[in-house]
Parts: sequence; C-alpha cells; structure tokens
Amino acid sequence: MADKLIIFDTTLRDGEQSPGASMTRDEKLRIARQLERLRVDVIEAGFAASSNGDFEAVQAIANTIKDSTICSLSRANDRDIARAAEALKGANSGRIHTFIATSPLHMEKKLRMTPDQVFEQAKQSVRFARNLVGDIEFSPEDGYRSDMDFLCRVIEAVIAEGASTINVPDTVGYAVPELYGQFIKTLRERIPNSDKAVWSVHCHNDLGMAVANSLAGVKIGGARQVECTINGLGERAGNCSLEEVVMAVKTRRDYFGLDLGIDTQHILATSRMVSQTTGFVVQPNKAVVGANAFAHASGIHQDGVLKARDTYEIMRAEDVGWTTNKIVLGKLSGRNAFKQRLEDLGVSLESETELNSAFARFKELADRKSEIFDEDILALVSDESVSADKEQFGFVSLSQHSETGERPQASVVFTMGGKEVHGSSDGNGPVDASLKAIESHAKSGAEMVLYSVNAISGSTESQGEVTVRLQNSGRVVNGVGSDPDIVVASAKAYLSALNKLQSKSDRVAAQG
Ligand code: KIV
Ligand code: ZN
Repeated sequence: MADKLIIFDTTLRDGEQSPGASMTRDEKLRIARQLERLRVDVIEAGFAASSNGDFEAVQAIANTIKDSTICSLSRANDRDIARAAEALKGANSGRIHTFIATSPLHMEKKLRMTPDQVFEQAKQSVRFARNLVGDIEFSPEDGYRSDMDFLCRVIEAVIAEGASTINVPDTVGYAVPELYGQFIKTLRERIPNSDKAVWSVHCHNDLGMAVANSLAGVKIGGARQVECTINGLGERAGNCSLEEVVMAVKTRRDYFGLDLGIDTQHILATSRMVSQTTGFVVQPNKAVVGANAFAHASGIHQDGVLKARDTYEIMRAEDVGWTTNKIVLGKLSGRNAFKQRLEDLGVSLESETELNSAFARFKELADRKSEIFDEDILALVSDESVSADKEQFGFVSLSQHSETGERPQASVVFTMGGKEVHGSSDGNGPVDASLKAIESHAKSGAEMVLYSVNAISGSTESQGEVTVRLQNSGRVVNGVGSDPDIVVASAKAYLSALNKLQSKSDRVAAQG
C-alpha cells in the first residue's frame, strides 16, 4: 500500500485570518461539518485562546465532529495551551498545534527573545502540552527563513518532548519549490529523531507558489501532511489551496504515488459554502472550482472533448462535484422534499426552528423564481445571518423607485435590536439609496471598501449574490446577501456586514 498524505485544513483558522473572512460560531460549525463530509483528516478549528468566540467555536466543533481530528492553534505558552486543551475536551481525537517564531528577524524584532530563550520556551511548551493532550504538532513560525542549525536544534528537542507532527511554515511565501523541498529533506536527514514525527508543509501564496512549494515539500522533502485551505483562503495572498493540492496528488498519482482519504466529490460544495459564507468570490479561472475550470469555449476544444473528453480534460468534472445544473425543487415542493435536498447537499440545520425559517425563505423564493437550483438552496441557508429574529440587524422589506433622469429613492424596513425601523433615502442608484436608508438609522459610520454582485446560477432569472466589505476602526468584515432582486440582496449583505461589525472583536492575532 502507498503512503497516505494527511490533509490538514486550516480554513477556519489561517483562512479566517484573511481580512473580512471572520466567521461566526455557527458558520464555522457548518463548514466543519462539510469538511468532515469531505473526509479531511485534520480540521484546525481555530485559535482557542485568541477570543471567547474562537474558544466556543473550537469547543462546538470538537463536541460535534467525530470523524476528523480537531486541532486548536496555540502560542507556545502555558495559558494558550491550557485554553486549547480545555476547548478540545469533547473531541474524539484532539490535537494541539503550538508554535513559536524561529527566524532571526522574528525572534529579534517581534518576540524580542534570544535564540536560547526561544529554544527553552519551545521545549517547555511541548512538554506542557504533551501532558494535556496526546497529539501535539509543533511549528517553528517563519521556519523557512530560520537558520538551519538552530532549527535542527529546536526540532530535535521538541520531538524528544513528544511532538508527533513537525510543520515547517513558509510564513511569508518566500520559498521556491525546489529549495523548499530540499529544505525539508535536509531537516529530515540532519535531525537524528526525525523519523519519530510526521513532517508537514504549510505554505503561503505571496509569490503564487504555495501549491507548488507544498507539493515539492511532499515529493522532494518527504512530507506526509499538507496544510491548506478551501479556495486558498488566507492572509494576504492566501494559503495553499486544498482543492488544487488534492487534485494534483490524485490526478498525478503516477508521480506522487500517495493515497488520500479525501472524498473529492464534495470539493465543489465545500468551495461554494466557504465562498458564500465569507463573501470571498472564487475567480472564474480558478483551478478545479472556478466556473470555467471545465468549460470549453473554443471550437477546436469543444470538438475534441465531444470526440474524446481526455483530449482536453485531465480530470472528470463530476469527480470534484460538478454536475449539470439540476432543477431540484419548485413552488410545489414540500418541507420534507426541502429537508431531504438539504441532507443530500450535506447541510444539516441545527434545530427545527432553523429548518422552518429556511423553508419559509425557500417558499418565498419559489414564488418569485420558478426553478430552484442547488446553489439557491445553499445561498438560502447562508442567508440565515440576516433573518430578523436572530441578530441585531435583520431584513424585513424594501421598496425603491428609479426612473431615467430622476434620482432614485428607497425605503427599507429592517429590525434593529428586535425593533422594526423604517429608513428612507435617495442615492446615486437604487443600491446606494437603500444602503443610505439603512445607514440613516444604523449610524455605523463604517466605510465600504468592496461591493460586488454575482449571479448564483447563470441566467438573469438567477439570484444575485452580493458581497459588501465594511471597515470600521481597523476592523474589516464581509457581509453576503442573496435575492433575485439585487437591491434587496445588497440590503441583506449590508445588514449582514453590520451584524458582523457588532460582534465582539477582542481577538489576538496568530502572527502577532
Ligand atoms: O504561517 C504560519 O507560520 C502559521 C503558523 C502559525 C503555523 O500559520
Ligand atoms: Zn499560516
């Protein structure tokens, strides 16, 4: 049997560190369920000590997900490690991932610690963690820019203390494939107890090489765990993309010779869920999950694919979850059919109340749109964050008037802290008027840094999916809303972003 490559997903931790991608506990739990369905080996659920919200999210995921190992990040100090262990108590299989920077630059300028102090702290932290949880991963942050001799000394010591996974981050995306692969190989060859640990790669995408570097770490360096995120979500240019690394190893099994536990048919649904939840739109030409990834437009290509699909296709679209758009439900579909379809799509709503409210929204949508696609159903479920009964801000109704040559007017009814308010405004266009109508009461003072509209399922009958990114006092949040009426979708997206701005923000950053 070939070696197995462990897939460690950090969408909910490193992915969430991307400005605007922060998720609520319920959103994280929904994505964690989907990652379990995808059969991800390890889910990094968060950084428990960074905020109460993150602690609760890690705890909820640890208590719910049973088939994947659940991991919490933790700085190398006793308080963070104890907090991570506490959050992981309910896990079937829990892991603490502790880290400390080892590059000269980070040690001197960020930590203001000497190499000997860092060495001692790394060792002591792994020893402390090992007494609380059996499965410990250690990362030397900015590992790739660290001194080789020092890194060997630290890693040998933490393996001796019981770290069973050693992850070597290219924290700033500086590596190139051959050199990164060689770096991992040298570490494994030089460290006497290196065979006592699984070696892992963690690459950022600043130079667009995160996937290539990770694969080189596997092929040249002998790593057997890859840390990655759905859609490559992550700080700055993002992390290594799960769907790309997985499909590369699967499609080129002849070259990599490795097995994977991933059920690739769930890749597309997972990608969409992450995109809809965070508001980070997937570019059409993105490998594997982009709208054009399997589209053949040129006559020559179309002709070739019709004669023999492998003339231009190296993977089967259905293997990653692309099926032809299906009309799944309509106006006459009942609650059971809706519930069944949600289950088929892998969405489990937590309570009957949530199911009832999603079903009510489905009925409303089916009245206005004759064909309901899977994508519409997923968007309906993501829209939970603007349902009027749950949050500070909830959408109720909207009317607007626009006519050529006249300034558009909008009136929006929404809830604020449980009370219904009516806002009216004019604006440059109907969207601008509607958002100003909301802002006339909400008075968030937030600056809009991004507004984008996408069609969920292609045609003009499709629902519009709007992303609004707001910035206030240094915080950046994304709100997503969908509706066949893009003005309504915009209002929902704006309210959803306001809800996120309201939520507590006492987070500690991992790369502080
Ligand atoms: O990029 C990085 O160095 C990290 C560590 C905290 C593992 O995300
Ligand atoms: Zn990272």
